[in-house]
Amino acid sequence: MRAVAALLLLPAVLAAGVSSPQPLSPFSFYNLSTPLSGPCDICTGPDGALWVQNILVDKIARVDPATGDVEEYSIPYTSPPLNASLLSGFTGGRTASACAIRPGNDGNIYAVSGIRNQFLRINVTTRKIDVFTPTPYNPLGDVQPFNDLIACPNGMFFSQTTANVISHFNYASEIFTTYLLPTPLSAALGMIYFKDYLWFAELLGNKIGRLDPNDSSITEYPLTLSLLGPAVFRAALSNPDRVCFTAFLAGANGCLNINTGEIEVYPNTGLLPELSLPSENAKDEREGYEDIIYYSTATQNYINILNATSGEIFNIDEPDTLLAEPLSLPIYLDIGINYGPGDAVWFTQATENRVGRYCLGMSC
Ligand SMILES: *[C@@H]1O[C@H](CO)[C@@H](O)[C@H](O)[C@H]1NC(C)=O
Ligand SMILES: *[C@@H]1O[C@H](CO)[C@@H](O)[C@H](O)[C@H]1NC(C)=O
Ligand SMILES: *[C@@H]1O[C@H](CO)[C@@H](O)[C@H](O)[C@H]1NC(C)=O
Ligand SMILES: *[C@@H]1O[C@H](CO)[C@@H](O)[C@H](O)[C@H]1NC(C)=O
Ligand SMILES: *[C@@H]1O[C@H](CO)[C@@H](O)[C@H](O)[C@H]1NC(C)=O
Repeated sequence: MRAVAALLLLPAVLAAGVSSPQPLSPFSFYNLSTPLSGPCDICTGPDGALWVQNILVDKIARVDPATGDVEEYSIPYTSPPLNASLLSGFTGGRTASACAIRPGNDGNIYAVSGIRNQFLRINVTTRKIDVFTPTPYNPLGDVQPFNDLIACPNGMFFSQTTANVISHFNYASEIFTTYLLPTPLSAALGMIYFKDYLWFAELLGNKIGRLDPNDSSITEYPLTLSLLGPAVFRAALSNPDRVCFTAFLAGANGCLNINTGEIEVYPNTGLLPELSLPSENAKDEREGYEDIIYYSTATQNYINILNATSGEIFNIDEPDTLLAEPLSLPIYLDIGINYGPGDAVWFTQATENRVGRYCLGMSC
């Protein structure tokens, strides 16, 4: 299977292998300078750079793909009402435990702030970070680290997992709107905006939710145990229209056909797939690769490649992995994965304190 993947996806590796006795690695790495930053989520900004949210330090990092330069910006957390600011500053700017960053539709980047349950806007030109406190502020809105956000035409949606709500931030008015979720303790986490609806993953509710922003109505699609713990939702495919998500606790990926409601299950392969913890996903943007989804596995040091037509999965070992599965040695704790910029998959290795790039083509 790996050979098939190479033929389909790795012309650079093959070409390098033929022309030189020491094949060039398709991998490159970019260290963060703050020790123990824990790079977690990653996205492409409107400036063509990679923007990274760190889970262990309250900083945003920027990787310039052209020069390889890495810059870091501290998040100027403010004190929210209700004195919830006790969470900040306590341990030298390492209290937010945040892991979600996405481009907006207004030219800015947005990020959530983990257990602080605030909301960040980053101007990629000035690099200024604005901190917003959702109203009404709920200090218990996200008391575990993970939540997510996504752009829609007029703003950003984001999840407050432990408050069991989804919120919307309007770009122009900067007003927050809150949507209560019908399933108690659903722990809505990942989300994607596709074809006029917000689709979200209920990690503990074990459902996919669909929010119609026009009338606030919510429809839910229950999942089987083979898709236990739907987590991150970042791949929308066409022909047929599907939204695809990782099933964190099942060691699988799933796709929901948004027209028929049909749900496909793509179980991981290999040893003890239920321990692999599929975390984030991203779709290939190249023509001819529309059915290819990349996803991270937190406990297995792989670039995982799913063909969402055939269900085939290819695993690319990350460098210096001594043992790949069932649990990798050492564990790099890969969470973030992003297609592009360039013909490449970018990813984070939290325990190695670096961002990685895996080149798919002849040049990246
Ligand atoms: C990145 O960090 C590792 C581990 O500290 C070090 O071995 C490597 O040389 C660094 N790479 C660069 C480009 O600085
Ligand atoms: C927050 O704490 C400060 C100092 O402890 C106190 O003066 C203030 O009244 C508190 N504010 C609220 C909203 O409880
Ligand atoms: C970034 O800040 C500059 C300077 O204030 C402003 O002119 C620009 O519009 C901002 N960018 C966005 C996308 O809002
Ligand atoms: C919501 O309203 C907009 C504007 O009328 C429309 O384009 C869109 O299709 C509607 N969304 C849904 C889910 O019906
Ligand atoms: C995915 O699998 C389908 C069915 O085998 C195949 O037709 C398609 O070419 C594959 N996609 C890629 C990008 O290889």
